[in-house]
Amino acid sequence: MALTPQWLDELRARVTLSAIIGRTTKLQRAGREWKACCPFHQEKTPSFTVNDEKGFYHCFGCGAHGDAIRWMTDQRGLTFMDAVQELAAGAGMEVPRPDPAFAQRIEQRAGLHEVMAAAQDWFVAQLQAPQGAAARAYLAQRGVDARTAERFGFGYAPDGRMALGRALDRFGEALLVEAGLRVAGEDRDPYDRFRNRLMLPIHDARGRVIAFGGRILDGGRSDAPKYLNSPDTPLFDKGRTLYNLHRAAPVARQSGRLIVVEGYMDVVALAAAGIEEVVAPMGTALTEQQIELLWRMADKPILCLDGDAAGQRAAIRAATRALPLLRPGHSLQFVALPAGLDPDDVVRRDGRAGLERLVEQPQSLLDLIWQHERGAVPPVSPEDKAGLKARLIAHAETIADRDIAALYRREWLERFSAFAFPPRARPERGPNPPWGRRGRFAGDARARALPSLAPGSAERLAQRHRADPLAEAVFAGLARHPDQIARHAEALLGLAASQPALAPAVDGLLHLADALEASGGDPISAADPVPQPPEGTAFSFLSSGADALSAHADLAEAVGLLVERPALDAAIAAATARFDADPEGAFAEQQRLLERKKRLGERKLAFESRLGQMARRRASAPVEE
Ligand code: UTP
Ligand code: MN
Repeated sequence: MALTPQWLDELRARVTLSAIIGRTTKLQRAGREWKACCPFHQEKTPSFTVNDEKGFYHCFGCGAHGDAIRWMTDQRGLTFMDAVQELAAGAGMEVPRPDPAFAQRIEQRAGLHEVMAAAQDWFVAQLQAPQGAAARAYLAQRGVDARTAERFGFGYAPDGRMALGRALDRFGEALLVEAGLRVAGEDRDPYDRFRNRLMLPIHDARGRVIAFGGRILDGGRSDAPKYLNSPDTPLFDKGRTLYNLHRAAPVARQSGRLIVVEGYMDVVALAAAGIEEVVAPMGTALTEQQIELLWRMADKPILCLDGDAAGQRAAIRAATRALPLLRPGHSLQFVALPAGLDPDDVVRRDGRAGLERLVEQPQSLLDLIWQHERGAVPPVSPEDKAGLKARLIAHAETIADRDIAALYRREWLERFSAFAFPPRARPERGPNPPWGRRGRFAGDARARALPSLAPGSAERLAQRHRADPLAEAVFAGLARHPDQIARHAEALLGLAASQPALAPAVDGLLHLADALEASGGDPISAADPVPQPPEGTAFSFLSSGADALSAHADLAEAVGLLVERPALDAAIAAATARFDADPEGAFAEQQRLLERKKRLGERKLAFESRLGQMARRRASAPVEE
């Protein structure tokens, strides 16, 4: 017979919901109902009601709603079957067993639960016995107070191969071996698994002991592993277990926060410091099942890992494992502890507040992977850039939820573009601006800028730039300082090629330079095609008072700007055109184009502000006559 709806109704009818909820939540009578501050969200005035007649609880604040079974799964974190079994046990009902094999498994588990409970009691008793003195001293030395030791059920496994075997022999060797408490070798007699170790019970979500972790006492054999854990048994699957889950779950649901640490002793230390919503995996990387368990308690569990390289690797491992599982509202967060310190050390050194401070500023999953993949230095070669981009896209592709995947991809690619193609820095600060340091024009600027000109756009741009104060100023400046023309000949030719409207002026200037050379450097008055200086400009190279050196330097800078600008405008125009022409284009491509436009826009802004600076500087400089 299976669990029929009728049987479940009978179960619901037999349990008193307020009594079950009242175990962990303080209820107040309110007419025929009960009221409380909601255990599912933070509130100061009660909006959570329990109705025993209807068998439902409901929160008017957050909408939490359910019956007794739902309470056990949502608030206590039990599986459906565990919830049913626990409720049935309390109501004196027997859970129907579907088939003999299942019945046998239940029975076997019942036997194992009994063994584990007996072993726990026995370990605790051993800790208090004379042979437990060293273990008690060890606990005291670590600062674990008596109350904490009792709450966490610390015990002691005495030395010797038969101590537990004899004490629990009433269960029979086979069951002790199956429970993982004794080890049966092929060619040797069974022996106690845990010897001379401080024992920590590991519980399931219902708070039943299902396994143990045994720590060596300091000063013990150094070749032995620090912790010996129970093997997987019918009760214990380490990939599905979280240490301290049963204590942390109700607190985490209340506070909305859940902290994940690496070690048992970290959990204990944090609880002793007053932070209760803490769990730890069993010394292995977080499994998918453990991540799902975490999400039943909190939306964004916070993983606290050592800030060293190993801790970072663990963070990345957890992050990449969580990506495929992400669903709306759920994620992981990360805190890198000071290198070499575990949470236990942090609370010991800085107290509860010290740890709280760290936990208040976690890093998001998205940030963590981005920072990890990005590395410290921007990629320089196209291959490196492509590699980074491919890795980010590959991560996003592992996300099963399509909305989340698209959003991750978009955010990462935006960051990628800004990082791999940073906007040109301000001239003076940039690592290698085309205009170099003041006065030294880097001759490859044109070569770099012009090839990206889209075909056809040059003419259009030239039209727009015909009445162009910068071009006019530069040409006038060169006419005034003809000895500088030869130096910029290459840049000027490039300019003429890309902007035919400027060609006659360039031509005139080059003739002027030729004539100058032919005359052996004697000044020659400018002939017609050379433009006159525009009115009201304040560039040094147009002022008769400026010293030649700075006039030449500024002139070089202005030529550099002039050469750079059309390429910028053309690139922006090209990106816009492609975007407009293909609005249905692939999402990533659209994002890339938008990003490129943004970047180019930023460069142009930097450019224009540079121009403004140059003009202002000259305008405010005292004119030496
Ligand atoms: P830690 O070495 O950080 O443990 O290992 P801890 O809890 O902080 O222990 P103390 O402070 O040294 O006493 C983290 C976890 O890895 C698992 C345990 O679950 C431990 O809590 N572990 C570690 C093992 O299973 N075996 C080992 O030998 C060591
Ligand atoms: Mn530790």
